Amino acid sequence: MRQMAREYGDLARIDVVRTSLFLATHPDLVKDVLVTNNRLFGRGRGHLRMKLLLGDGLLTTDGETHKRQRRLVQPAFHRQRVEGYGETMAQRAEELAERWQDGSTVEVLGEMMALTLVIVANTLFGATVDDQVEEIGSALTATFELFGFALMPFSELFDRVPIPTTLRLRRARARLDATIYKIIADRRRSGRDHGDLLSMLLLAQDTGDEGDGGSMTDVQLRDEATTLFVAGHETTSNALTWTWYALSENPEAEAKMHAELDRVLGGRRPSAADLPRLPYTRAVLAESMRLYPPVWGMGRRALTAHTLGGYDIPRGSLVVVSPFITQRDPRFFPEPELFRPERWLDATAAERPRFSYFPFGGGSRQCIGEQFAWMEGVLLLAALGQRWRLRLVPGHKVEFNPLITLRPRYGMRMTLHSRS
Ligand code: HEM
Repeated sequence: MRQMAREYGDLARIDVVRTSLFLATHPDLVKDVLVTNNRLFGRGRGHLRMKLLLGDGLLTTDGETHKRQRRLVQPAFHRQRVEGYGETMAQRAEELAERWQDGSTVEVLGEMMALTLVIVANTLFGATVDDQVEEIGSALTATFELFGFALMPFSELFDRVPIPTTLRLRRARARLDATIYKIIADRRRSGRDHGDLLSMLLLAQDTGDEGDGGSMTDVQLRDEATTLFVAGHETTSNALTWTWYALSENPEAEAKMHAELDRVLGGRRPSAADLPRLPYTRAVLAESMRLYPPVWGMGRRALTAHTLGGYDIPRGSLVVVSPFITQRDPRFFPEPELFRPERWLDATAAERPRFSYFPFGGGSRQCIGEQFAWMEGVLLLAALGQRWRLRLVPGHKVEFNPLITLRPRYGMRMTLHSRS
């Protein structure tokens, strides 16, 4: 795809098995697809597979159904609510910082996956279900493993789900469902607000001008809870893993981040209130998601014929926008391959077009967890980074594995060095 963009410019076309695939890389075209004309585009057929796991949650629905669910889920992500989750995030990160051993080698992707899974489980389902969190975690992990390839954004172009995998997938999902439905039933019985995401989803009513006054059924609750689980843990753990890698490769940026953490926190646990005082740490995360966007591409199916950047897009074509490609465009990011957090702090930041950087997508499907993710990312970097320096194990091979998220193909083996 990078080669397509290099050779053919802002809009490239490739014909694959009776479908035309368009790669739109200029920020104006990205805006057209995600925002201005988003109603002309639907989810690709690849998402039918995601439905096996996620049912009719935010990630897999379109049109009116999507709009209604979005209205119902949105309140759970209001700033104040999200800030309330900061405590859990920092606490869980600190526990990991306690467990790490000086001089030992860890597989950082696995460590970050485990950490973000616990955090999303705790913020979704709260402390009331500590014993069940583990069960959900393992059922989910089993499902993810089977799902891996099916989560490729354009997998429909390459493959079909083999039957044995589908059967195993259904079994893993049944296990997951049993746990989640039990939690929902317990909650409905107790009727209390536990201050977590699930309580918000249970309490949500579709009021307001467009609303129908209804709330969510158990099936919808299950679908949204699973969606948030999936969307909220894999992405953040990849973002963090690539950030530790970038810091290991760029000791100067790392030193600046450490200086900021030492000055602002002085060794105490970070909290949501510290975020405005940690601009460099945030810039490190922003720069890492520029070079290594966890969601490297988004696919949309043209519901009608459409003109994009002066070219005809036939009905049924697949249009792909890619943060990975656009965010490495030298027109918007000089010396794009360099890791330079400063580009988020100087005057150039305000001059760049909005869609030169879109790790969270945009428009009506923009990531609902964006604030959650920024807070989690910065708090985890802060809590771990003030205690530890991570170094890539010499000779460890680092390669991209672009499934639905951008994973390091061989994981990320790093050595831990205590900073105290
Ligand atoms: C660094 C972390 C994250 C990144 C890079 C990320 C990225 C994205 C992107 C690019 C989309 C749009 C996909 C599209 O347009 O096809 C998206 C959607 C979504 N994200 Fe995130 N995400 C992150 C974290 C989270 C978290 C923490 C949650 C929840 C706790 C979450 C929940 C969702 C949901 C529910 C959607 C679907 C929204 C909709 O279609 O209405 N994400 N995310």
